[in-house]
Amino acid sequence: MAVSLDNPARNLASRSAPDIAPASAAGSKAMSLQFEITPAANPTSEKDRAARLVDPGFGRIFTDHMAIVRYNQAKGWHDARVESRANFPLDPALAVLHYAQEIFEGLKAYKRDDGGVNLFRPDANARRFQSSADRMAMAQLPEPVFIEAVEQLVRIDSAWIPGGEGSLYLRPFMIASEVFLGVKPSAEYIFAVIASPVGSYFKGGPAPVSIWVSENYTRAAIGGTGAVKCGGNYAASLRAQAEAIEHGCDQVVFLDAVERRYVEELGGMNVFFVFDDGSLLTPPLGTILPGITRDSIIALAKDSGTRVREEAYTIEQWRAGAASGKLKEAFACGTAAVISPIGKVCSTSGDFLISGGAAGPVAMGLRKKLVEIQYGRAADPHNWIRKVL
Ligand code: PLP
Ligand code: COI
Repeated sequence: MAVSLDNPARNLASRSAPDIAPASAAGSKAMSLQFEITPAANPTSEKDRAARLVDPGFGRIFTDHMAIVRYNQAKGWHDARVESRANFPLDPALAVLHYAQEIFEGLKAYKRDDGGVNLFRPDANARRFQSSADRMAMAQLPEPVFIEAVEQLVRIDSAWIPGGEGSLYLRPFMIASEVFLGVKPSAEYIFAVIASPVGSYFKGGPAPVSIWVSENYTRAAIGGTGAVKCGGNYAASLRAQAEAIEHGCDQVVFLDAVERRYVEELGGMNVFFVFDDGSLLTPPLGTILPGITRDSIIALAKDSGTRVREEAYTIEQWRAGAASGKLKEAFACGTAAVISPIGKVCSTSGDFLISGGAAGPVAMGLRKKLVEIQYGRAADPHNWIRKVL
């Protein structure tokens, strides 16, 4: 398909994209399950937990429990439990091990100053999980079950939520668990949620990151799986990310798979551009992940009267805008990293800096606004917060 800025088929392609708006898809119908809660017999001692929470980094420390729900065709979703975090017994013929029928989510629980706990837009994660399941031909988990599983886990492991700027990163995921080597949608699934106390995703916090423009690899094509959160997308991004590191960069940015010009997103984050007239631009939905942080930033920016365009933007425009000063800032955003300013872009055609490589005021201002809502320190005009405790 021809794609150009003059004839923005690229922007139209997004119209049929899965979104995080309320879903009416099959399987989203209201249904809740009673979770059986069995506290861990030997939970981590308070002393060990405190030691692990000092500098948790990202994704290496785990809480004592997990939530788990099973699916098969005869019973539907059943056997909902919160129990001690444990290994899964894995038959070597388990479908997920062969054909990667797997999806996941990422969201956080935040400790409020009054000691309570907030979740940020878990309903949006639940709906995106349904869109991911639909694309990967998996069973759809009802939204109330997703939210209940997350909430139950946060409640039982609330002592693991770090204070200060830390949070509890929640990782809901679903795997195809039928023991069968035929290539077809699995007839059985395991849905689980695990939790990991986290500090900053990037060592050193929201300092500007450097980005490598991938010319050898793409992330997603129209009709592919770029708009959903399946593990395979991340496996396919690792070689490109390794190339970024080899070139001394922190992260990789992918271009579109057709013309290799349009900026799409990073391996695990969406991207925004800030112009000299104060407006924002972010690539349109279609082949990118519909980020919940992206959606929240668009809403917050619009609240304060900022013009936000969801439009295609090329790497040539990025380079020219940075050179002329028309482009003031660029930043990446996602649950794990929140908002990270992009200071430097590197590619085989040469490197360039954005705003002299420094963190810009718009990125940092939006970051502060978002974080204050998440931690319950600012008003929540969009009703994004769900108090768990
Ligand atoms: N893009 C990709 C590829 C991601 O993995 C993520 C992280 O989840 C995002 C964007 C940002 O999405 P969200 O803001 O919902 O975390
Ligand atoms: C997130 O921001 O939640 C992500 O999932 C990004 C990455 C850790 C996969």
